[in-house]
Amino acid sequence: MTLTITPLHPLFVARIEGVNLRSNHTQAVMTEIEAALDQYAVVIIPDQHLDDDQQIAVSEQLGELSYALNHGRKVGQTTRLRPELYDISNLDENHGILEEADRRRQWREADKLWHTDRSFINAQTSYSLLTGRTVPPEGGHTDFADMRAAYEDLPEPLKKKLENLSAEHSIWYSRALCGGTNFRADEIATMPPVVQPLLRDHPRTKRCSLVLASHASHILDMAGHESRALLDELMSFATQPKYCHSHKWSAGDLVIWDNRCTMHRGTPFNDQLYRRDMRRTTVQGPSRSST
Ligand code: OGA
Ligand code: MN
Repeated sequence: MTLTITPLHPLFVARIEGVNLRSNHTQAVMTEIEAALDQYAVVIIPDQHLDDDQQIAVSEQLGELSYALNHGRKVGQTTRLRPELYDISNLDENHGILEEADRRRQWREADKLWHTDRSFINAQTSYSLLTGRTVPPEGGHTDFADMRAAYEDLPEPLKKKLENLSAEHSIWYSRALCGGTNFRADEIATMPPVVQPLLRDHPRTKRCSLVLASHASHILDMAGHESRALLDELMSFATQPKYCHSHKWSAGDLVIWDNRCTMHRGTPFNDQLYRRDMRRTTVQGPSRSST
């Protein structure tokens, strides 16, 4: 099968057409999509209109799924979606719009900071697959940044300096940046901080990327002010407009990104007026086609 692949940016991001993943997500098709991800890091596949079963089946072709975290809920509250699906919406378990003060809404706020999915977990998260089920008429775009290109453009002495540095990543750090401090001790204990290198070679392409995210609180073995200044400097460098692409959603879109070489962030929309129903599956570990 030959897909039509159209680059949307000089460095990364392509649109893929000529495939209907509802009825055809054979390994052969997914291998072609993964090859496009190796090159473009983010692929936009419009007009797919996947349901939950189809999204899970497509995602499982790319590797083992990680299950959604259910933080931000009250004890005993049920979730809107099954555990394979991360709920990236502004909706409650009855599909109504979350109120302004709802903890689940506060939890999602940190998605608007540049990040990679699950860098605060001690396992390599490879792909995220996000489907737009209902999208707002304005706002709520998703921005992406190419961390390979950003790395390659760093001055050589800085590349050298980063080689042996690591940072601590914690979900609680990024939530606190958005004012989330009312988490229970038992919640916090479920996700202790993890250490990630600042540079990492991609396991498939061997291209080196910067490893950054708003979850990164500090660089190990470095004075606090110096560490914060370096993380901020790298973050500003890597998110210059020339490394970024903004995706404006249409209902039915499937967007797949590779967390090993990109960052992303949500952008604001009127979440008290419009519904935004987005569902994410998240792949962990090596893909089937690489084994
Ligand atoms: C995500 C995410 C941003 C958005 O799905 O992991 O960060 O635009 N989404 O909803
Ligand atoms: Mn995310």
